[in-house]
Amino acid sequence: MINSTQLDGIALVVGAGRGIGREAAFSLAEAGARAIVFADMNDETAKESSEESKKYATNKDYESTIFKMDVRDDKSVQDMVDFVVKEFGRLDYAVNAAGTDNGVHKQLADTDIENFDRIMNINARGNLLCVRAQVAAMRKQDPKTWKSRNGTRDIGRGAIVNLASANSFAGLPGKGSYTISKHAFMGITKMAGLDHAPEGIRVNAVCPTWVRTPLLDDELRKNPEVQGMISAIVPIKRAAECEEVSDTIAFLCSPAASYINGASLLIDAAVTTTVRLF
Ligand SMILES: NC(=O)c1ccc[n+]([C@@H]2O[C@H](COP(=O)([O-])OP(=O)(O)OC[C@H]3O[C@@H](n4cnc5c(N)ncnc54)[C@H](O)[C@@H]3O)[C@@H](O)[C@H]2O)c1
Repeated sequence: MINSTQLDGIALVVGAGRGIGREAAFSLAEAGARAIVFADMNDETAKESSEESKKYATNKDYESTIFKMDVRDDKSVQDMVDFVVKEFGRLDYAVNAAGTDNGVHKQLADTDIENFDRIMNINARGNLLCVRAQVAAMRKQDPKTWKSRNGTRDIGRGAIVNLASANSFAGLPGKGSYTISKHAFMGITKMAGLDHAPEGIRVNAVCPTWVRTPLLDDELRKNPEVQGMISAIVPIKRAAECEEVSDTIAFLCSPAASYINGASLLIDAAVTTTVRLF
């Protein structure tokens, strides 16, 4: 009998070239995924991530490859999912980590609609296209079972994990467009989980606050005040390490999480439990 947090199936990670998506793929490889497709609009970083994942993979038959795509383009999203199924026969775990930030901070009344459309196009519409195509592939495949110490249970046809944000629950002054897009992504997660549970497909989201990605490290170098803000706001006084998010993503894909569906899991060290800002 293997551990219930262990994986053995085929994974697709969208936004796997950099940051949390890249680490999510590494966590899936460590947890035992048989194959991973690294999808990203940047095929160079996707290739680097794909190569590096071989160092962490624990499945003796592990394979990885890349797929260049853009979540804004319906056809490229569909081609990506078709590619996974054609290459590897099925899609067991999908992670949707492509996303973009607000850029300039503005109060809601000053929202730049072009910027709003840009953000919604990736974070909401683009991720909806991904979830839609992934569910459509998963619902056609045979369900799997899991043998635990107490017997065998159905673990369904597939699991999807979306990269939402603590901003799916709470706003940050001046970050309206991003916050709205992340609320939408939580809505997509709830609706997909609800609509497709009877078909054995689970859809959940992880919702972090600050995560130590190369982007955040860059920001901290340019603007050391951000570190002060994190220390003041985050009860454990640091940003999350990438693997504190990506290991949770692997857990949500695993048999151990087979009853978790439609959930948006805060990974925020209790930031959103308080109204205290300082
Ligand atoms: N970093 C944080 O502190 C943090 C906190 C909360 C939530 N998040 C969310 O996590 C997700 C990942 O964040 P990150 O910091 O790792 O970002 P990142 O910018 O480091 O990585 C995003 C990846 O997605 C790819 N991508 C972007 N747009 C794409 C598109 N249109 N089509 C295909 N690929 C595209 C990029 O090429 C990149 O490889 C985002 O949705 C972000 O909002 C991040």
